Amino acid sequence: MLKNFLNGLELDQKGALKLLNLAQKIKANPTDFSQALAGKSVVTLFEKPSLRTRLSFDIGINKLGGHAVYLDSQNGAMGARESVKDFALNISTWADGIVARVNAHKTLTTLAEYSSVPVVNSLCDLYHPCQALADFLTLQEVHGDVSKLKLAYLGEGNNVTHSLMLLAANLGTDFVAVCPKGSSPDSQILKQAEQIAAMNGASVMVSDRIEAAVGANAVYADTWVSMGDKTPLEQVKAKYMPYQLNQALLEKTGAQTVLHCQPAHREFEITSEVMDGPASKIIQQAENRMHAQNALLVTLLNPNFV
Ligand code: CP
Ligand code: NVA
Repeated sequence: MLKNFLNGLELDQKGALKLLNLAQKIKANPTDFSQALAGKSVVTLFEKPSLRTRLSFDIGINKLGGHAVYLDSQNGAMGARESVKDFALNISTWADGIVARVNAHKTLTTLAEYSSVPVVNSLCDLYHPCQALADFLTLQEVHGDVSKLKLAYLGEGNNVTHSLMLLAANLGTDFVAVCPKGSSPDSQILKQAEQIAAMNGASVMVSDRIEAAVGANAVYADTWVSMGDKTPLEQVKAKYMPYQLNQALLEKTGAQTVLHCQPAHREFEITSEVMDGPASKIIQQAENRMHAQNALLVTLLNPNFV
């Protein structure tokens, strides 16, 4: 049984596919799930800002008949007023689940260690596994069987890249991260993804050459500067500009689908022409955050419901 969702690897291929199918069911028949979390309370803690994650969890939990309690970066800053351990021990006495967006992954593992209720990672320095679930839900809706696809990520190797890479490997999707030199994904996570991909007949690659993205079915962009990094975007513009998701690059790769986790910095990592263009599934992807997370919450908090 699934207890926590911290790096996404808690789900094997079968579990991930089951979850994506449940998400499709919840999306198609929301009223069937309107009591799936009845009587359950979920605390959502945020050490960093959020639009999509905060709202998709809050509204999603409400649609499942549950109750979400939001703690902002002042009240949700674990380790400041009291220890992470004490957050976990206290919250566990009232709530049925914890969703946390944290600066350091270690905070999540400590929360999970001392919490008697499930803990979900809603972004940390290393992973964004709920995002990856929504991304693959979107790819499945648009393209069908994701094991037949190639996905290319362009830009900085970061938390989003890591979670995409791991879920791609798990689901048998060929994956390439096209990143400038010095901005590659974490080498340990890459190694892990390569091992998982090998078991599933898929490939994981890292390259600094755009040509590596040619033949991808979908191309994916994220910000060039993640939350917590104070570097101005202008300062990294020259380094990342060759990786900008623009019309010329899209045509060069031949990709049919464009994804971006958002928030997007228009005319930096992606042009408005592409973001608002016919290949963009970015808003569908944002909507799917809620459906994918609802499937996860039902699986974690009320597995007998499904
Ligand atoms: N994609 C994503 O996590 O968006 P927010 O930072 O707005 O939650
Ligand atoms: N890599 C980005 C993702 C935002 C959803 C960040 O960590 O800020």
